[in-house]
Amino acid sequence: MKICCIGAGYVGGPTMAMIAKQCADIPVHVVDLNEQRIDAWNSDQLPIYEPGLDEVVREARGRNLTFSTQVDAAIAEADMIFISVNTPTKTFGIGAGRAANLEFVEKCARQIARVSSGHKIVVEKSTLPVRTAEAVKRILANASTNASFDVLSNPEFLAEGTAIQDLLAPDRVLIGGESQAAIQSLVDVYARWVKKDRILTTNLWSSELSKLTANAFLAQRVSSINSISALCEATGADVDEVARAIGTDSRIGPKFLKASVGFGGSCFQKDILNLVYLCEHFGLHEAAAYWDQVVIMNDYQKRRFASNMVKTMFNTVSDKQIGMLGWAFKKDTNDTRESAAIYVCRDLLLERTRVHVYDPQVSETQIRADLEYLLRDESGELSSYKKSLIDNVKVVPDAYAAAKDSHAIAVMTEWDEFKNLDYSKIYTNMPQPAFVFDGRNILDREKLSNIGFEVHAIGKSRPTVG
Ligand code: NAD
Ligand code: UGA
Repeated sequence: MKICCIGAGYVGGPTMAMIAKQCADIPVHVVDLNEQRIDAWNSDQLPIYEPGLDEVVREARGRNLTFSTQVDAAIAEADMIFISVNTPTKTFGIGAGRAANLEFVEKCARQIARVSSGHKIVVEKSTLPVRTAEAVKRILANASTNASFDVLSNPEFLAEGTAIQDLLAPDRVLIGGESQAAIQSLVDVYARWVKKDRILTTNLWSSELSKLTANAFLAQRVSSINSISALCEATGADVDEVARAIGTDSRIGPKFLKASVGFGGSCFQKDILNLVYLCEHFGLHEAAAYWDQVVIMNDYQKRRFASNMVKTMFNTVSDKQIGMLGWAFKKDTNDTRESAAIYVCRDLLLERTRVHVYDPQVSETQIRADLEYLLRDESGELSSYKKSLIDNVKVVPDAYAAAKDSHAIAVMTEWDEFKNLDYSKIYTNMPQPAFVFDGRNILDREKLSNIGFEVHAIGKSRPTVG
């Protein structure tokens, strides 16, 4: 058995590294078109930051784990080919802003069809709209060689920041397919380290749809608690207390009830929009509107955070400086895709604020690229005015530099290091009144208020000083 994976990203890299670690006798070849990314996978500076990943890669790389750009050769040699390429929201044409862009998946299927011979199992690892496997099968059926194929759906449920733990001990592995023999081949790979009762098998379409549905349900919980956070602020209820009170009901459960400045990440929004598009495609308008509301609520939460900052700071932040702590969409990752920080920063820049940003894992190049992308107009142009706004952003080397001379600090990512900063020292280096806007509810509000800060958090009324 030889495995190949097309796509060496946040999913392909860690997932294949885990398979290689657990199955020392199976050669695993991860390929990508992006030479720079592959070079990084072959270096000591991996392209993604993920706790525990270095150790797993170090153990398997050079033994049975290979990273290269030799896509054709890797496909030709493999018995099982995972497709783990990106499936972003379409930005053009039919379904723009909603449907998934399947261009990269289709190109992989065509490439597999072109270079394969003998029998191969093709595994959809990317998150895909339900019934994509039909298109993949049709493309593969037209292979010019004597090749034959089985197609499986094996969506990935890892979360960034905990990917290694999620891969080591998954709640479940899901495998959808038509051929029992093909399903069994993949079950045998996971069964090396995952208990059999955690490996679920279904038909192809249930597997594809379960992935979109799982993300939609998780995001829905965050939007639900965020909607309640707005009501808490208006009424004096405390959103963490409400979350604890409802989460102890075993029918509801405690997870994914942490109110925040809004969910980010490459998948929640993309997958819900895709679900909405699918519902509309099948004429299910009420179902589409229901899920659409999860994204609408998330946009509202991000906007609400920025506008609360402006309102609180005497309705003007122009030419004021704000220190932003965190840029990644959650802690323990360097991934910034759809991070709430980008949207809040955009809104502040449009108010002509100067923003000093610090994130322990995100580079200045990435921060600028994120803002340029968001501030471009529909034709993709970045006007000289918007460019001048981005010039008001300074990326600084630590949290103290971000706070120094800032009128307010805004916590955008729940990095642990932000909890234990010397806030007394920070306070003395800020103009008064000094504001704190905690978008993650990680700071000790009472302690900060006693130092002298005016503290605003999500779903909380302000503590009384004493
Ligand atoms: P990514 O953008 O980090 O990686 C995708 C990689 O595929 C890129 O490096 C790109 O260069 C490569 N690629 C694209 N077309 C190619 C081709 N024809 N040949 C070779 N390489 C090609 O994306 P990701 O975050 O790893 O996500 C991949 C898929 O997994 C998506 O469908 C996503 O929805 C899903 N997913 C992501 C996560 C996550 O936490 N990021 C979790 C579960 C599922
Ligand atoms: C999510 C899912 O959790 C994974 O199961 C799935 O595989 C993945 O999407 C995917 O398909 O890409 P991820 O986006 O990496 O994983 O991270 P999450 O932990 O789900 O967090 C998503 C966003 O929601 C983050 O911005 C996080 O800060 C926010 N969040 C999460 C909250 O605001 N409150 C919560 O209670 C939980």
